[in-house]
Amino acid sequence: MIVVAIDGPAGAGKSTIAKALAIKLGVRYLDTGAMYRAVTFAAMQSGIDLGAECEVAKLARDCTMELSDDTIIVNGVDATQAIRGPEVTSAVSTVAMNSQVRTELRERQRKWIADHSGGVIEGRDIGSVVFPDATLKVYLTASPLVRAQRRVAQSGGNVDEIALAIAVRDAQDSSREDSPLILTSDAITIDTSSRSIQEVVNELEQFIAQKISDE
Ligand code: DC
Repeated sequence: MIVVAIDGPAGAGKSTIAKALAIKLGVRYLDTGAMYRAVTFAAMQSGIDLGAECEVAKLARDCTMELSDDTIIVNGVDATQAIRGPEVTSAVSTVAMNSQVRTELRERQRKWIADHSGGVIEGRDIGSVVFPDATLKVYLTASPLVRAQRRVAQSGGNVDEIALAIAVRDAQDSSREDSPLILTSDAITIDTSSRSIQEVVNELEQFIAQKISDE
C-alpha cells in the first residue's frame, strides 16, 4: 500500500501536486484541509460559536462528508464553493486548533486511506501525526510572495492583503499546541517557487520508486 504524505503551508502547491501525483500513481487523493473547512462550514451554518470546543467537536463527529476529487458534500449540502470562500478561510484555523475535532478527522483520514488501499494525502500534520510511517513524506514550500500570487490567480483579491492573511494563518497553524505544521527530519523538502508542476511530480515519482526498491 502506497501512502504519500504531503504537508506544507498555504499556497505551496500541495493540492495541485498531490492531485497530479495521484493520477500518475493510479491512486486516490485526499485533501484534509477540505475536511477542516467542511467542519468550519457546518459550524457556521448551524450558528455555533467556533470557540465552543465541545459543541464544535460534537458537530464534527456527527456531520457527514462525501469527498470526491472535485466536490465536497457536507450534511447533504454541496459546500464545494463555500468552503473556499473568505468566511470559512479566515475562520478555519480556529476549528483546526480544536483537539477533539483533530482526533475525529484524524480517524476519518486513516479510515479513508485504509478503505482506498492507500493514496496521496495532503495537509499540515500528515507526515508528523496521521501517517508517520508513510511511504514518502514531502514538505512543500514556496516564497510568501509566490504563495500569495498563486492564491490571487486562483480566487482574485489584492496580493498584499492575501499575503497578510496567509501569514496570519501560517502562524496559527505552525504555533498551535496540537499537531502544528512542522518539518519532520525524514521528509524531503521541495521549494516550488520556480518549479513546474510536472518537474515536481516527476521528482516525487522518482523518490517513490527509490523507496519501493529499497524496501
Ligand atoms: O490546506 P487548506 O488551506 O485548505 O487548510 C485549511 C486549514 O486547515 C489550514 O489553515 C490548516 C488546517 N489544516 C490542519 O490543521 N491540518 C490538516 N491536516 C489540514 C489542514
